[in-house]
Amino acid sequence: MKNDFRQKLHLEPKSGWINDPNGLCYFKGEYHVYYQYSPDSPSGSGRKCWGHWKSPDLISWRSTGTVLFPDTPDDKDGVYSGCGFVKDDTLYLFYTGNVKEDGDHDYITSGRGANVILVTTKNGHDMSPKKILLRNSDYPAECSCHVRDPKVWEEDGRYHMVLGARTLQDIGCVLHYVSDDLENWTFLEKYTADDMGYMWECPDEFTIDGQRFLSISPQGLVHGKFDNQNVYSSGHYRMENGNLTDFTEWDKGFDFYAPQSFEAPDGRRILLGWEGIGDIPYTNPTVELGWQHCLTLPRELTVTDDGKILQNPVRELDSLRKNAAPINSGDTVKISLPFDLAAKAAGDIKVRFDNVLQFVSCGSESKLEFLNDSAGCGRDVRYAYIPELRDIRIIADKASVEVYINGGETVMSARMYPEDTEITLSAEGISGTLYELNGIEVITDE
Ligand code: FRU
Repeated sequence: MKNDFRQKLHLEPKSGWINDPNGLCYFKGEYHVYYQYSPDSPSGSGRKCWGHWKSPDLISWRSTGTVLFPDTPDDKDGVYSGCGFVKDDTLYLFYTGNVKEDGDHDYITSGRGANVILVTTKNGHDMSPKKILLRNSDYPAECSCHVRDPKVWEEDGRYHMVLGARTLQDIGCVLHYVSDDLENWTFLEKYTADDMGYMWECPDEFTIDGQRFLSISPQGLVHGKFDNQNVYSSGHYRMENGNLTDFTEWDKGFDFYAPQSFEAPDGRRILLGWEGIGDIPYTNPTVELGWQHCLTLPRELTVTDDGKILQNPVRELDSLRKNAAPINSGDTVKISLPFDLAAKAAGDIKVRFDNVLQFVSCGSESKLEFLNDSAGCGRDVRYAYIPELRDIRIIADKASVEVYINGGETVMSARMYPEDTEITLSAEGISGTLYELNGIEVITDE
């Protein structure tokens, strides 16, 4: 069947542009996913709003449409990224109101307002009036006008907020504020690191099994063969006594940025990212069809004994599996998108989708490589250094692929645009199970 590029497993807008996941939380019995949304334009121009989906089970979703608009002087140029914080029967949403002043400005050192704004909601979509909590004058003097993307949590009897920032010296950093009432915030400290770019976006600080992490999306890193291959990066530090160590990228593929995490009611930490990046040198052919970009699958985060984060698709997605069939080395099978392949590996492997793309692991080098440009739309190859590949899970949607390696130690994600929804899959060096997948359900209220 000809591929219309409409995703079956990934959240994407019917029309317009989506970028970062925002306001992720579990509130009143439902998961809530807000997102950066440009309803008027698939290229991301025009009004930047927040859209909203909610779900009781991460499988059946309801879109309540656009819930926050840039309709005040303090956010007139965009309801930028932010977070959700649940307290009692209220959801507090914190975001950055982006303001661009008229005049001759570079919009880095002057001309831009970056306001932390609070709205509250009792049902997830009807919002209170907006209240400004922090303005540029409240940030440390060393900061440029680029300060944004609040993430709030409660710990040790106080509320905490991290904000991503760029200093006037073009050094990326995170600003940490504290509050006793969620409204009055005091600057506490700054986190930064050497040679980690000029701007850190979308910070997220959290603990899993007693191990502390800081996630950031830094811009301006040096690109290497195995590291920071994309225009902008995204990864996490281990935090020990305020020290940041072992920056590890979340995803080694082409399309991943600005993730956010939240805690599910059963204690799992779940992460969603934008399955896209700004300012990319490749394209997405859905722009001509009226929409662009999607979010990643929700991923469960766990931590190994030696403090490494593992990412795996949330277990709820297993309920979409059907028609399991064995797949072994040397097999070539036809399968329809979307599908899920879970396999053990012994030595070098290759999993190939027609002439669309292949995942190859040879020695300590793994790569996700497009085999023709109409499927990659400018994407070529991304590498991961993996000394021993033991297992692999590939979830292929109609217009994307996520490869989870070694129990989720490494993930590689990419948008892909095969002409047909039926794929010929060939496998070498693996043995496991191939499942067809039902899609998630998305109902739209708009
Ligand atoms: C990350 C980002 C955020 C900002 C938002 C605007 O992709 O640049 O820093 O708040 O997107 O859409």
